Amino acid sequence: NTVNPVIVAIDGPSGTGKSSTSRAVADKLGLRYLDTGAMYRAITWWMLSNGVDVNDPVAVADQAGKPTLVSGTDPTAPTITVDGLDAAGPIRTQEVTAAVSAVSAVPEVRARLVELQRAAVATATDGIVVEGRDIGTTVLPAAGVKIFLTASAEARAARRSGELNGSVSVAATQAALIQRDAADSSRVASPLAKAADAIEVDTTELTLTQVIENIVALVEEKRTGS
Ligand code: DC
Repeated sequence: NTVNPVIVAIDGPSGTGKSSTSRAVADKLGLRYLDTGAMYRAITWWMLSNGVDVNDPVAVADQAGKPTLVSGTDPTAPTITVDGLDAAGPIRTQEVTAAVSAVSAVPEVRARLVELQRAAVATATDGIVVEGRDIGTTVLPAAGVKIFLTASAEARAARRSGELNGSVSVAATQAALIQRDAADSSRVASPLAKAADAIEVDTTELTLTQVIENIVALVEEKRTGS
């Protein structure tokens, strides 16, 4: 009763360790990896670079089809390019982080990226881990394993602040995270949400290694049908 290729959807708010967890799970299980947040960040970077007013949904919708996005799916070396330019660095800037919720709320942007996401999954014949906000609910409702990661606001802010090397205070990071999650959860077009059949993993009291091991075990159970 082997389920192959295995498709693992990992959703949840920022700062839950979603990216580190998803990459490690994919690597351990020999699966491909797709970071859909990076795709929303990349299209946001393109909009900002091309002078599109990111707070004007009509302007954003109008331009949504223009950039060419290519995502590499190797979990040990994920890549993303926009019109052939390496976007890995620029998509992590504060400017992009501050604008990404507005851009990702535009239905035309989502339609475009969801199509690319499904195409990437279709080519991953050995299976894939896909991380985001709406993977289990909207992008891949038939995914074999659905995980919803959570953590307390304090834990999430502390982790994100650590990633920023303490350049921004934990309090400021927490305020920005809460604001972004509220925007991502309250938008009309496929908001951040736990799928009814997703397994919720609260990572507040767990180490990254424990979270990875839990999810690897869940996927292996599913694969062997036990
Ligand atoms: O995971 P991240 O922080 O890189 O995601 C950046 C933003 O992209 C996040 O604030 C919401 C949006 N996003 C989305 O709307 N849908 C997804 N599947 C993934 C991310």
